[in-house]
Parts: sequence; C-alpha cells; structure tokens
Amino acid sequence: MKTIFITGASSGIGKSSARLFQSKGWRVIATMRKPEEETELSKLRNVTILPLDITDTKQIKSTVQSAISLGSIDVILNNAGYGLFGAMETLNDEQIVQQVNTNLLGTMRVTQAFIPYFRERKNGMVLNITSIAGLVAFPFSSIYHATKWGLEGWSESLSIELAPFNIIIKTIAPGGTKTDFSGRSLDLGSDPIYDEMVQKTISGFSTPSTPEEIAAVIYEATTDGKDQLRYLAGETAEKRFNQRLELGAENFRKEIKKWFLNLQNN
Ligand SMILES: NC(=O)c1ccc[n+]([C@@H]2O[C@H](COP(=O)([O-])OP(=O)(O)OC[C@H]3O[C@@H](n4cnc5c(N)ncnc54)[C@H](OP(=O)(O)O)[C@@H]3O)[C@@H](O)[C@H]2O)c1
Repeated sequence: MKTIFITGASSGIGKSSARLFQSKGWRVIATMRKPEEETELSKLRNVTILPLDITDTKQIKSTVQSAISLGSIDVILNNAGYGLFGAMETLNDEQIVQQVNTNLLGTMRVTQAFIPYFRERKNGMVLNITSIAGLVAFPFSSIYHATKWGLEGWSESLSIELAPFNIIIKTIAPGGTKTDFSGRSLDLGSDPIYDEMVQKTISGFSTPSTPEEIAAVIYEATTDGKDQLRYLAGETAEKRFNQRLELGAENFRKEIKKWFLNLQNN
C-alpha cells in the first residue's frame, strides 16, 4: 500500500486529494493546523491525521519524524497555502512575510525535511501545488505571484538536482477553483485609493473548477509514470497558459495590461 503525506488537508484541494487517494487504496497522512476540528477524514480507514503548521519549523521536523515512524512514505503533496491580494503599497510587512513564509518557505522546508529520507530510499515524489498564478501574472496579487513563480522555478531546479536519487518533483498549477481560497483563506490589503480598482479586478476572476477536478489531476500526475514537471489543472489554468504560449510572454502581458486599463475606465 502506497502512502501520501498531504499539507493543508483541512479543506479544499488538500481535503479532496486526501479523500481521492484514500478511495484509491492509498494510506493517507493528512496534516493540518487544527486536527482537533477534523471530523470527516478522521473516520476514514488508513487515514492518519497529524498536526502541521508549515510556518512552524520545529513542528515540521517533529511531524515529519512522526510520519516516517508510522511506515514508508512515497509521495508528499505540498498543498497548504493561501492568497494575499491588494496593491503592493497597501500591504504591511507582516502580511508579506506571512505569505512568503507559508507559500514559499513552508513548502521548501517541508520538502527539505523529507529529502534525506527519500535520498536514502532512492525513491520518492514531491508534488507542489503552485497555481496558474505561478505561470502568468495579474495586478494586485504580486506577492502571491512571487511565491508561486518562486515555487515553479525552485521545483524545476530540484527536478534536475534530485534526479540521480530517483526523487521526482512535479508541480500542479490549478486555475480558479471553488474552495475556501477566495473566502476565509484570503488576506486582502485595503486602502481607499485602490479599493475600487482591487474589487473590479477581483470580480473579473472566475472559479469554474471543483477541488475534486484538481485532485483528479494530482492523482494522474502521481500515477502516470511520465517524466513531466508541470501539470495545468482546470479550465482557467489551461486557457490562460495557452493564451500566453500563443501570444508570447510580452504580448500576453500587454493584453492583460489593456484589459486592466479598460476595466479601470468602465
Ligand atoms: N482555489 C483556487 O482558485 C486556487 C487556484 C490556484 C492555486 N490554489 C492553491 O491551492 C492550494 C490549496 O488551496 P485551496 O484552494 O484548497 O484553498 P483552501 O480551501 O483555503 O485551503 C487552504 C489550505 O491551506 C491550509 N493552510 C494555510 N496556511 C497554512 C499553514 N501555515 N500551515 C498549514 N496549512 C495551512 C489551510 O488550513 P486551515 O484550515 O488551518 O486554514 C487549508 O487547509 C493553495 O496552495 C492555493 O494557493 C488555489
């Protein structure tokens, strides 16, 4: 029986992935900040819940050790993360540090904690949930983009560096997905100069995909045996990335700028 270790399994894409892998006969180590509040996954067979806040470096070490002591681990799914939106000048330092500490450094630290284990086994897979926001850029999400573009570049580098040890790195880039991402998980900068522009921009974003659809792409990436780094997941991710490829990076940026300037004038 294979085992997957998941971060941020309390809701959305992480929870749907936990359910899907469990239903496919995997053992699941579902980690979350508040395990005491989990009522659904804890009832499933072969699912173990462990506490993990990925900004807590001590807890990363202890939880990874506890997970490894439970039996072999084959795959880690770095899913935990959230969005910080707002104009750059309106974001305070605490918001910026928290975003980078979670999405970028948290993911790096969890992965780093597993690398020696995977290297010794000469086997392991790391799946990083990035975003279409790691491959294209929109206004008012600059720090989120910095973390997700960062994860894409970091993952590509690691996928080569760790190849001699048979450690596979893949990224899954979801587009807009109906989860708590744009609700309770969202951190929003605020300032009267920008508020209307930010609201207009955010109202242009859509979330046509379900977390179950994204989990299906994650499962496919885990099991397809392909030497492929990057997986787009969901309608808006495919559409936006294909537009960028067709137009070229510079023309794509100009199109987004045109859309944004028009939006502000209407
Ligand atoms: N939904 C979208 O449109 C979309 C699109 C592209 C990419 N993504 C990415 O998909 C991933 C999952 O988001 P989602 O859409 O499923 O949203 P979600 O339902 O809000 O889930 C986010 C998860 O991350 C956890 N989390 C946040 N900070 C954490 C921390 N410091 N330590 C541990 N866990 C933490 C949350 O835990 P708590 O329950 O404790 O808050 C929650 O389990 C994120 O990386 C996000 O950037 C989402």
